[in-house]
Amino acid sequence: MKLSARLSALAGSSALVIGALAGAVPATAAPAGAAAVPDIPVASVKQHLTDLQSIATANGGNRAHGRAGYKASIDFVKAKLDAVGFTTTVQQFTYNGTTGYNLIADWPGGDANQVIMAGSHLDSVTSGPGINDNGSGSAAILEAALTVARTGYQPSKHLRFGWWGAEELGLVGSKHYVNNLPTTERAKLKGYLNFDMIGSPNPGYFVYDDDPTIEQTFKTYFSGIGVPTEIETEGDGRSDHASFKNVGIPVGGLFTGASRVKTSAQVTKWGGTATAFDRCYHSSCDTTANINDTALDRNSDAIAHAIWTLSGTSTQPPTGKVFENTADVSVPDNGAAVTSTVDVTGVTGNAPASLSVGVNIVHTYIGDLVVDLVAPDGSVYNLHNRSGGSADNINQTYTVNASGEVANGAWKLRVQDKAGADTGYINSFKLTFP
Ligand code: TRP
Ligand code: ZN
Ligand code: CA
Repeated sequence: MKLSARLSALAGSSALVIGALAGAVPATAAPAGAAAVPDIPVASVKQHLTDLQSIATANGGNRAHGRAGYKASIDFVKAKLDAVGFTTTVQQFTYNGTTGYNLIADWPGGDANQVIMAGSHLDSVTSGPGINDNGSGSAAILEAALTVARTGYQPSKHLRFGWWGAEELGLVGSKHYVNNLPTTERAKLKGYLNFDMIGSPNPGYFVYDDDPTIEQTFKTYFSGIGVPTEIETEGDGRSDHASFKNVGIPVGGLFTGASRVKTSAQVTKWGGTATAFDRCYHSSCDTTANINDTALDRNSDAIAHAIWTLSGTSTQPPTGKVFENTADVSVPDNGAAVTSTVDVTGVTGNAPASLSVGVNIVHTYIGDLVVDLVAPDGSVYNLHNRSGGSADNINQTYTVNASGEVANGAWKLRVQDKAGADTGYINSFKLTFP
């Protein structure tokens, strides 16, 4: 629930609830869109790669569609997700006469009508263990999912992760998933993020040139760490995002290069050598030795940045701390001043030079009213002094230079009615600290 909704729900629930909270409702929880993006531990991503390597080694050296190493890879990823509270589904399909598997993992919560999905193909070719292609993407999104659980992240959008089978045979698993997704479910997918080969040993930093918002989200991350990127051109449509893009779902993704050769300009930009980005592409040497740790680390963190950013609130997230008292306080006709109090806690140092003071007073003649903000030390800031004549109600946000006041403490809205006949009450009083 949004903060404002929660506050009005409280206000509407009962006077007893408000009273039990002494009238003040501190509302300091950061909205989902403002949640800090966690760092993805690359050591954990690498451990998943070591485990996938062991699975290949124990199963004839690969994790290919229709082979024992593939199903063992699915079981491995699924067990990790089940243990931390994901809702997992294994989707079966048949290709080349053998059973294939997709693994879908939903994180409970978020708006079911707005889904952000990250996916990677989990199968290798038959010639090797497929650690860069595509243990790398699979392990990174696995660790991102585990980090969602570890941090208790509750995004406003719904999060889903997918591990695809038989990508190497023509995007078979992801096509099967999309083809079996009803139109109404497709419409809920607001973004699909694909990660296929993100730890190439001689890496480039490529961002898919598809949905502009997704593309920019990745670029913002990389420019923030000072790493130049280029648009991915080594075969657009050569990975599972194409299955989603084909039915109109916004897509994006990251890639560190396959068999194409790094140019000298790219060597200048990124380091490495003017050889293939991945000299072990689709071969037996695509092992845990075929990974550039820096590329794996940066891309894993870029994935988290995108997942966290894109799943948060779509509207501008309020960054401030809000304190509000929604308890009604009646203002006696031509009588003594009354106050509504909010207790500000957890704000370091002084109040800001532009403290926003939300005032909602229901009254039939605002020319009767004097309204002041009273700081915790008793300093008085006048907000309204009998102007406005016979107009009804004050419902407005004042900006007060409160930089001379310590932020924490009991702030009061003081209202006095100085003329007979018309009456009213304080409806709500709200302070927003930037
Ligand atoms: N998907 C390809 C594979 O698994 C690799 C690849 C080539 C790729 N070009 C790409 C992946 C561009 C993503 C983007 O063999
Ligand atoms: Zn691949
Ligand atoms: Ca009056």
